[in-house]
Amino acid sequence: MTICRAKDYKELSRKAANVIAAQVIMKPDCVLGLATGSSPIGTYEQLIEWYKKGDLDFSKVSSVNLDEYKGLNPENDQSYRYFMNTHFFDHVNIDKANTSVPDGLEPDSDKACRKYDEIIEKSGGVDLQLLGLGHNGHIGFNEPCDIFPSGTHCVDLAPSTIEANKRFFASETDVPRQAYTMGIRSIMLAKKIVVVVSGEDKSDILKKVVCGPITPQVPASILKLHPDVVIVADEAALSKM
Ligand code: F6R
Repeated sequence: MTICRAKDYKELSRKAANVIAAQVIMKPDCVLGLATGSSPIGTYEQLIEWYKKGDLDFSKVSSVNLDEYKGLNPENDQSYRYFMNTHFFDHVNIDKANTSVPDGLEPDSDKACRKYDEIIEKSGGVDLQLLGLGHNGHIGFNEPCDIFPSGTHCVDLAPSTIEANKRFFASETDVPRQAYTMGIRSIMLAKKIVVVVSGEDKSDILKKVVCGPITPQVPASILKLHPDVVIVADEAALSKM
């Protein structure tokens, strides 16, 4: 596990975007595993800037996203499909037909998860997985629990996740209580993983992930077993280490 220290969010975003840009340049038809949330927004903005300058080409890239709220339709401005379109896909030349997000509108959880695992498998495997880190150590929506979940599954969101994400909704009651998420095994099968962590409020959990034991109670702690992980964090997030 490599830790890459950035001065602030802007520098963190540029460093993370550099790793992704290198991936796209080295393998133009790569599969990117993508994340939503506030942490990767600056990374996407930087990639868009380089694309507009003519330095990057996403035409052959395909992507699989980590997660989606169960019950939200893709046009809902809080859905993760909507997030990806507005923060990234609409601004670069990626073919949206080659981008995948779990189907939040599929009410049958088993079916939705099976379908998504098939999509991940058919993609040929994720070359680079971008992750954010939840305050409780979640990655994707793999919440703290007793075992590391393997494939795509439906989760009940933890109260702390609902609390953290209510800022995006009109009120806490509007936050969906369930989501479909890629499992830990699928994340760990990515060839390379980049985790973006910003802000003092992430400093305690980042210390637990890096310095604490590997446990499903801190799902991101398993990343220590992956051979190629870089955590790009700003000074505020690294302040307890
Ligand atoms: C989003 C996701 C989540 C977030 C995490 C951090 O697709 O999978 O694990 O990365 O909740 O969210 P932010 O970046 O908003 O603090």
